[in-house]
Amino acid sequence: DAIKVVTLLGSLRKGSFNGMVARTLPGLAPAGMAISALPSIGDIPLYDADIQQEEGFPPAVETLAAQIRDADGVVIVTPEYNYSVPGGLKNAIDWLSRLPEQPLAGKPVLIQTSSMGAIGGARCQYHLRQILVFLDAMVMNKPEFMGGVIQNKVDPQTGEVVDQSTRDHLSGQLTAFGDYIRRVKA
Ligand code: FNR
Repeated sequence: DAIKVVTLLGSLRKGSFNGMVARTLPGLAPAGMAISALPSIGDIPLYDADIQQEEGFPPAVETLAAQIRDADGVVIVTPEYNYSVPGGLKNAIDWLSRLPEQPLAGKPVLIQTSSMGAIGGARCQYHLRQILVFLDAMVMNKPEFMGGVIQNKVDPQTGEVVDQSTRDHLSGQLTAFGDYIRRVKA
């Protein structure tokens, strides 16, 4: 069976560069890996324990959780906001963390950040790793992907990454992630 990988996007905007990275991944997947996108995290309300208690988990959270449980691995593709994790992504993770059958526990996770700045959201990566420690996710250490000056590496017409060395880096990282998933599952 093919390894099933899903992408979780940390940006909500239509023209998101990180969205373009996420959209490029299915075409770069190694043989035996299928990559698809999770639904947008934009429909998830701000975490509120009263909502959880009075109405249960929002449908958008349940859907996200079910698709993550069903996947062999998750790629989090996100910008860096103010040297850290975008609030919307943190909010989605906060909801997921409260589920009884917490979907990221033991789940192989790959982090990809991209930004218009030179260091490609590096600072966000280490905050995200710290958050995922509590969720007990199996975050792959290396190789890392930090897409710096990403606006120069995409084609806004097709909405995909066109820079060849960036594509090579991404496909190499996906191959390593496939090996990592097999090791974690073994
Ligand atoms: C940013 N941006 C940004 N970039 C960066 O490299 N480090 C940072 O700390 C921040 N902080 C930040 C905060 C906020 C609130 C915004 C809106 C933006 C710029 C950011 O990298 C740029 O807008 C990207 O294009 C956002 O990613 P998407 O939406 O294109 O995927």
